[in-house]
Amino acid sequence: MNIPMLDLKAEYALLKDEIEPAVCAALAACQYIGGPNVKAFEAEAAAYAGVKHAISCASGTDALLIALRAIGLQAGDEVITTPFTFVATASTVVMCGATPVFVDIDPRTFNLDLAQVEAAITPKTQAIVPVHIFGQPVDLAPLKALCAKHNLKLIEDSAQSFGADYDGRKSGAYGDIGCTSFYPSKNLSTFGDGGLILTDNDKLAAELRVLASHGSRIRYHHHVLGYNSRLDEIQAVILRIKLKRLDDFNARRIAIADFYNRLLDGAVETPYADGKGRHVYHQYTILSDRRDVIQKALTEAGIACAVYYPVPLHQQEMFAATHGHVRLPVTERTAQRCLSLPISPMLQDAQIEQVAKVIKSAA
Ligand SMILES: Cc1ncc(COP(=O)(O)O)c(C=O)c1O
Repeated sequence: MNIPMLDLKAEYALLKDEIEPAVCAALAACQYIGGPNVKAFEAEAAAYAGVKHAISCASGTDALLIALRAIGLQAGDEVITTPFTFVATASTVVMCGATPVFVDIDPRTFNLDLAQVEAAITPKTQAIVPVHIFGQPVDLAPLKALCAKHNLKLIEDSAQSFGADYDGRKSGAYGDIGCTSFYPSKNLSTFGDGGLILTDNDKLAAELRVLASHGSRIRYHHHVLGYNSRLDEIQAVILRIKLKRLDDFNARRIAIADFYNRLLDGAVETPYADGKGRHVYHQYTILSDRRDVIQKALTEAGIACAVYYPVPLHQQEMFAATHGHVRLPVTERTAQRCLSLPISPMLQDAQIEQVAKVIKSAA
């Protein structure tokens, strides 16, 4: 039996009876933009995350771009971030005319190596954007202290970690601004694109709303260059239903990771949870010198797997001119050895055993 990376069909079958009538009701109500479900979802998401303001937008990419614009990022500025992430974390910095400064990662957590961050701060640095990669919270307290010391903004990229906890707060609620994505593969996902921006700061919240709405405070009056970035009513309906299940789904991801850990112990390097926060396993990512052999064996057995990320950002063609000289050895080595396995709240124990069996025979 084939095993997908993420079993969206099984998830849909589970939620269908709740989702379909709710979507049909929203279709009939005809308030497709700025409707009641968008407002309700923003309130529910803010309550869930424990923040004053949750501003919905069209994608996680837009959430980051709008957050960076809201803190006033502009040409000549620098933003410190990780090279081991999806491109949007850094492309949005470039979209503001600023430069991403990549700091190497911790070989065990795959998150920013905090010991190297301060040395990367220059007079041009405006913000630090940690990414809670694969669902594991970055140890944010030292970063917050650094930001306070150097007068920088802390913007969390929580696209992969919605529902994770750190120091009693939800992912995205600890920094000045938190950004998340509802892309279909995410822990809280919808049936298309969507994003959310979290903040406790009233002034930033007002600015974020203006930027997401064509730079307009008063209808047809445009104060700054903004964006058309909206979550639509249908996606909001789906997100409201799925938000209620998020904690259960994340708990199942954690249980699956524990089971994988037990089965794979000794065969490959299993993910390291540093215990600083609650890891919600957006991905379950192993390391092995025999990564390519394992990947081939899994593929031949009909088991999906993926390399996140094969090319670190500082080695991407789009950054060749600006970052071609940069060497980040831990990130580069991780990109050659990492492999993400199927993980989905719907995964059955027998399937996990099947995946582990193939890996052990190839490792
Ligand atoms: C770490 C990270 N940041 C940003 C994004 C961008 O989100 P979106 O695809 O919703 O634009 C993603 C996901 O795709 C991501 O994984």
